[in-house]
Amino acid sequence: MSEKLVATKSEKLTAVKGMNDILPPDSARWEWLEDQVRSVMGLYAYRNIRTPIVEPTALFVRGTGESTDIVEKEMYSFEDKLNGEQLSLRPESTPGVVRAAIEHNLTYDGGKRLYYMGPMFRHERPQRGRYRQFYQLGAEALGFAGPEVDAEMMLLVHHLFARLGLRNVRIEINSLGRPAERQAHRVALIAYFEQHFELLDTEAQRRLHSNPLRILDTKNPTMQALVQDAPQLLNYLGDASLQHFDSVKRLLSACAVKWTVNPRLVRGLDYYSHTVFEFLTDELGAQGALCGGGRYDGLFELLGGKPTPAVGWGMGLERVLELIQEQGQTRTAPAPDVYAVIPDADALPMTIQVLNALRAAGISVQMHASLDQNTGSMKSQFKKADASGARYALIFGNDELAQNAVTVKPLRDGGGAQVTRSLTDIAAWASTLQSHT
Ligand code: HAM
Repeated sequence: MSEKLVATKSEKLTAVKGMNDILPPDSARWEWLEDQVRSVMGLYAYRNIRTPIVEPTALFVRGTGESTDIVEKEMYSFEDKLNGEQLSLRPESTPGVVRAAIEHNLTYDGGKRLYYMGPMFRHERPQRGRYRQFYQLGAEALGFAGPEVDAEMMLLVHHLFARLGLRNVRIEINSLGRPAERQAHRVALIAYFEQHFELLDTEAQRRLHSNPLRILDTKNPTMQALVQDAPQLLNYLGDASLQHFDSVKRLLSACAVKWTVNPRLVRGLDYYSHTVFEFLTDELGAQGALCGGGRYDGLFELLGGKPTPAVGWGMGLERVLELIQEQGQTRTAPAPDVYAVIPDADALPMTIQVLNALRAAGISVQMHASLDQNTGSMKSQFKKADASGARYALIFGNDELAQNAVTVKPLRDGGGAQVTRSLTDIAAWASTLQSHT
């Protein structure tokens, strides 16, 4: 063990900067969101895939792209101490999903529609809506070439956002065409920016030959006019690419989904071709991108697979939850149906059996327990019962138990009067409660 680790043994440890604990009651909002996601994914027949959090670094260098921000400066990469392998925490899941699809020959009998939820890692500067560990929901449709699946992907997000009650989310779309079309545009773009080299900031000058498309993405206000007049990729697209793009737009409009074309939308990852899109909000400050994705027909080959068309998106779940909150939606914290008050530890063997029977009948029960060996005064137990949010306290007093009974005390308005009930019908009584589970 290194000296540094041992010396700090008694100090309080805190989470890594930009990586958050998700605690109750907030975690209930996450569970609710995850339930909504699973339900909507089922409606579109997308199936769950779970790939490892750690992958070979080479997967992202080749897949995400060597000259992207993610690979250049944001990856958590390390050497495995035991065997020297170069590994990275996944900054995104698309390359991992494609690797798994190739490794397990997933598309041998036709296309596959997949989704995942899980943590991603990017060493970015933490701020509201931007974290170093963040949760992404993603969907990938592998082995489908047609524009109807591009549209389906966006309809799915639109449907999910409607289910979540989100408002004022706009959709921007663009087409990056085929590689040859992008290449012709790239040549024109480099020539244009070379002509105006002195107007480029240092970041853009550095990117000019490695990733000129990303210059179009610049947030630098002094470069806006320059970027505005730059050659537009849409003007370099051939008939087939334009047709694909037009079909996507038409299919969205057929479903009354509004979109705008943003010719400067290029996305920050290298693998895209044809359709790219983002779902954006103005209500979260600088981190307004809720969801981004597009088609990536070349990625399978890049990662050693057979040519396979594919399209997908990723969504930041922290941002979605922040927007839900920003728009004023509240959710009541979950509460147990009943709280078990236990005046005397002698009653525990009997009490714990009854509680298990209640749970088997679908009733959620919080059993009183305390920090020390004492069960605590009745007053403090009732205080905790109240704070738990339960509708009833069940009091397992020795006298009642001796008569095979328990006292039921309502904790909320409308719960009726306090009564004593026989243990034989307590489960039947409890099952009339609206269970929270
Ligand atoms: P991305 O645009 O890098 O795409 O990320 C997708 C979404 O993840 C963003 O729109 C944002 O909501 C969220 N996100 C990204 N970085 C952070 C962060 N540091 N903190 C919080 N949220 C963040 C991808 O990752 C692609 N894999 C999407 C895709 C799937 N394309 C095709 N298939």
